[in-house]
Amino acid sequence: MVTPRSDSANRLRPTPRPAQPGEEREPGPSVPHAPGARSTEAIITPPGEVELATRRLSVYYDGTPAVRDVSVVIPNQRAIAFIGPSGCGKSTLLRCFNRMNDLLPGARVAGQVLFHDQDLYAPGVDAVEVRRRIGMVFQKPNPFPKTIYDNVAFGPRINGYRGSLDELVEHSLRQAALWNEVKDRLHDSALTLSGGQQQRLCIARALAVEPEVLLMDEPASALDPIATQKIEDLIYELKQRYTVVIVTHNMQQAARVSDYTAFLYLGELVEYGPTQSLFTNPVEERTEAYITGRFG
Ligand SMILES: Nc1ncnc2c1ncn2[C@@H]1O[C@H](COP(=O)(O)OP(=O)(O)O)[C@@H](O)[C@H]1O
Ligand SMILES: [Mg+2]
Repeated sequence: MVTPRSDSANRLRPTPRPAQPGEEREPGPSVPHAPGARSTEAIITPPGEVELATRRLSVYYDGTPAVRDVSVVIPNQRAIAFIGPSGCGKSTLLRCFNRMNDLLPGARVAGQVLFHDQDLYAPGVDAVEVRRRIGMVFQKPNPFPKTIYDNVAFGPRINGYRGSLDELVEHSLRQAALWNEVKDRLHDSALTLSGGQQQRLCIARALAVEPEVLLMDEPASALDPIATQKIEDLIYELKQRYTVVIVTHNMQQAARVSDYTAFLYLGELVEYGPTQSLFTNPVEERTEAYITGRFG
């Protein structure tokens, strides 16, 4: 079995999780509605434990806003999709959840991003630890030019993992639905895998450091339909254990994999709600126009 990491030096310890089965949940951090939102019904706080939330989050690139005043609450162990046309700020918003925008010159973040009750942008928060607990998978599979095994073992080795690496690698590859395809070739180069396998390897690599959240930016958009289906099936599995935040411009994909969907347009959060109601009964006119294909 995989031994849990020691968290003693951890500045980002989550608050204890109070939920009793059947009990009405705490409403979570109170998040003001974005002033741009026309309907309070359009922006919701999903029930359940809050994993991540933004409060009036804006992101600027060299002074130009790419995300404007977004307040959104992401519940624990669900899949949340961000949809919207190209350039509307989906990737920018996603990167705020593990401080990847820090790495972009010219990017400035205003407002708050809360992980449980911790502001990820508060002074003293260790961005490396944030990225361990909130992992990320990118659009284009980006395995390291190393063996399959070494890709998965990479993060745990850096973190000084003390358990059995073999077991952790196997466990991570199984969780990424890749083990059966690679168990006899763990020491082959990761670059010998197909695109879909490489993407699942990147998911295994992200899982190997035992995150709580997985951020996925268009994880299947470079893949063929069969490989895409495998990724979607996998997301469905993963959300049983992790909170999954996925960016996609593929509305069918959002409808298939997510519990909640947020529609972004020109950097603003237009509407956020249970996936099924957002797609069948949107509150906002702009949402309806987008999901019915009137612009894209
Ligand atoms: N690193 C960057 N530097 C400057 N501008 C950027 C950068 N990344 C994105 N942008 C701009 O921010 C806006 C939102 O981009 P992005 O978050 O990539 O949107 P999406 O993922 O929805 O396509 C776009 O206008 C884009 O050109
Ligand atoms: Mg993008």
